[in-house]
Amino acid sequence: MCGIVGYIGQREVAPLLLEGLQRLEYRGYDSAGIAIHGSGTGKNAGLRTAKTKGRVRDLEERVPERFAGTTGIAHTRWATHGAPNDVNAHPHLDADEKVAVVHNGIIDNAAELRAKLTADGVTFVSETDTEVLSHLISRAQAEHLEAKVQEALRMVEGTYGIAVLHSDFPDRIVVARNGSPVVLGIGEHEMFVASDVAALVSHTRQVVTLDDGEMATIKADDYRTYTTEGSRTSTSPETVEWAAESYDMGGHDTYMHKEIAEQADAVDRVLRGRIDERFATVHLGGLNLDAREARSMRRVKILGCGSAYHAGMIGAQMIEELARVPADAEPASEFRYRNAVVDPDTLYIAVSQSGETYDTLAAVQELKRKGARVLGVVNVVGSAIARETDGGVYVHAGPEVCVVSTKCFTNTAVAFALLALHLGRIRDLSVADGKRIIEGLKRLPEQIDEIMRAEDDIKKLAEDYARAKSMMFVGRVRGYPVAREASLKLKEVSYIHAEAYPASELKHGPLALIEPAVPTVAILPDDELLDKNRATLEEIKARSGKILAVAHQEQEKADHTIVVPRNEVELDPVLMGIPLQLLAYHTALALGRDIDKPRNLAKSVTVE
Ligand code: AGP
Repeated sequence: MCGIVGYIGQREVAPLLLEGLQRLEYRGYDSAGIAIHGSGTGKNAGLRTAKTKGRVRDLEERVPERFAGTTGIAHTRWATHGAPNDVNAHPHLDADEKVAVVHNGIIDNAAELRAKLTADGVTFVSETDTEVLSHLISRAQAEHLEAKVQEALRMVEGTYGIAVLHSDFPDRIVVARNGSPVVLGIGEHEMFVASDVAALVSHTRQVVTLDDGEMATIKADDYRTYTTEGSRTSTSPETVEWAAESYDMGGHDTYMHKEIAEQADAVDRVLRGRIDERFATVHLGGLNLDAREARSMRRVKILGCGSAYHAGMIGAQMIEELARVPADAEPASEFRYRNAVVDPDTLYIAVSQSGETYDTLAAVQELKRKGARVLGVVNVVGSAIARETDGGVYVHAGPEVCVVSTKCFTNTAVAFALLALHLGRIRDLSVADGKRIIEGLKRLPEQIDEIMRAEDDIKKLAEDYARAKSMMFVGRVRGYPVAREASLKLKEVSYIHAEAYPASELKHGPLALIEPAVPTVAILPDDELLDKNRATLEEIKARSGKILAVAHQEQEKADHTIVVPRNEVELDPVLMGIPLQLLAYHTALALGRDIDKPRNLAKSVTVE
């Protein structure tokens, strides 16, 4: 989604805002803009803005040399209302150009408010919902900026993370959060605000995360937080877990390649300090689920979107297999709308890298409203979903900047393996099986490194498959979530159409699509279904389909095989997806795609 940055302090603000936007550009990148309190005289005084369609680098060219000031806000946009263009770029101003607003989220009643304001003589210049806010704040009757913003927000329905400048109040920035993240960065005689800590960590690691319904006023030497009704809140700063350098590209050409390459280290982190050799189990501090509660649950329902959902599919299989309790995964974006029957004996688990995905957060809030027990499997510490759930497991993947999730997907799958082992050893999983899984977990990092050493071979395959007009991905049971995730990876980064099917489903229709121009990637773990999976290769070969197999040994029916080291059958899905991340990456590279910022996408979808 969109990125918001703000600064107030002693330093020139424009360079700081542009640098912050560059760090947030992965969140949304079709247009960008900046507004500052000009510190000059004449036309250099008052609010000054520059905005443009395109990337932050295009904005930099629009920011005039004499853009002097020490207070400002900025925004990089992922369009929801109104095409990406200069006029629709944020910040949005009121008619008198005294108020500037940047906004992340969706104002559901924007059309109604726009109609009322238009009837009242207001002229709108953009197609956005956000512009409504700048007019409402400007027209508010209250005396102080905080009260003006509160007056405006009382008329708004929907989600927002906003930052507001007002030319009559140059000593402050007012921010508010409802459904879209807002974080304050606490500096020495300077304050920051952002929609993501990535924009702050190079300046300060002391942050204050606002809750929904919370606002803040930030000044150079002070900040205070309060609710939209005006009552003070006390939110003390926390230290950000990730240092600034963890956001750097580390010598790689893209974040995607960096994040694929660092998976062995990332998996090390999610395992660190959690393995209990003595009882052949794991310790998950913060899970907040004692043994009695764990034993009493009769089902597990895992909810997430996109790759988080696919990792949840792997997690459901692991939990069912190791803890012998029924488990399944469902897209949170479906669950939240279907008025699901919420079962008090079901343990719900929300999965999210960002912890801000609105569909997943809304599902969690619906479950909490109905009294359900909800845990989180989340990467970003202190994120909305992490705070909304009753406990959970952090996946410790480190910041994932590329829109295309890789290391966090893998770490989430491993986090589920830990949770499945934990639950299994509370129930009926034997010590021997617990030890077997622990030994398998320990082998993962070195086996990931082994897969990475085959990158050049995968690159050659990718250059061959990059000519496909469409691709099919198939797998059975443990292989199916791997096929789903690999299909999504290819689609979102290379723009090649791809579909994933349970291998057994091919003969019920999709086999009609198989032809030499539509290659199939088949996932063949060396488990009890290997013969069935080989039979699927025969079906495809009989229709002249081209096959790329991912397996533990060469497959004679496949045109190519990527051989993956074998772990324990329950853990093999963690490894079998990694070469397909590389396949998607090198396919996109061969096609010249914008790998870290694929068209139409955003890293954290904090709108519906
Ligand atoms: C991942 O490659 C996708 N970009 C996307 O599906 C993502 O996994 C999904 O939007 C969920 O995001 P979250 O994990 O931050 O909730």
